[in-house]
Amino acid sequence: MISNTILSFAKSILCDVLNPGCIAIDATTGNGYDTVFLSRLAGGEGKVFGFDIQEDAIEQTEERLNEECLPENWTLFCSGHENMQELIPEEYHGRINIVMFNLGFLPGSDKTVITQAETTLKAVRSALALLCRGGVVSIAIYAGHPGGSEEDVAVREFCAELDYHAFRVIQSEMTNKPGYPIRMLFVTKL
Ligand SMILES: C[S@@+](CC[C@H](N)C(=O)[O-])C[C@H]1O[C@@H](n2cnc3c(N)ncnc32)[C@H](O)[C@@H]1O
Repeated sequence: MISNTILSFAKSILCDVLNPGCIAIDATTGNGYDTVFLSRLAGGEGKVFGFDIQEDAIEQTEERLNEECLPENWTLFCSGHENMQELIPEEYHGRINIVMFNLGFLPGSDKTVITQAETTLKAVRSALALLCRGGVVSIAIYAGHPGGSEEDVAVREFCAELDYHAFRVIQSEMTNKPGYPIRMLFVTKL
């Protein structure tokens, strides 16, 4: 089926990278949909770490994971994704297959609690360091809310400057979204 959202498009691509036994990070768990996707694909032998700064988001994610009867392959942190390198046990460093970022605010919640360029960039740097070779960081960027366009520019500039011999960056966008485009970046570690 043709994707009608940027995230379903991203997931159709990530499915190729995320196999049973894989290790993944959901850098912004929010309502838990992306964590469920990662947990399901990683399966009982895999592992998923999730981060969000809002307690409600972590609770909502935990509830959704339990409702879906997924294997207990997940660990959630109510903490900023900028702390992922310190919080993820060292045995997983360099072994992460996928890190998903879904930036912006939590739909249906306080729209002033948003991801911020400075912490997002710190987290993306950490994510790239934690990846295995062939691993992918995906970043969904929304520029339509206050603060969104600054983050959009900062993340795209950072990714555009990554060493071509170490990483490949592919960008897609939903170009005809009224008001502003929604962008998706895929960064693969070579
Ligand atoms: C667009 S929502 C994520 C949607 C989610 N992936 C889902 O499947 O429902 C963005 C989330 O980022 C969270 N957030 C904001 N700053 C953060 C940070 N520094 N670290 C981790 N999460 C953060 C917000 O609380 C919000 O829940």
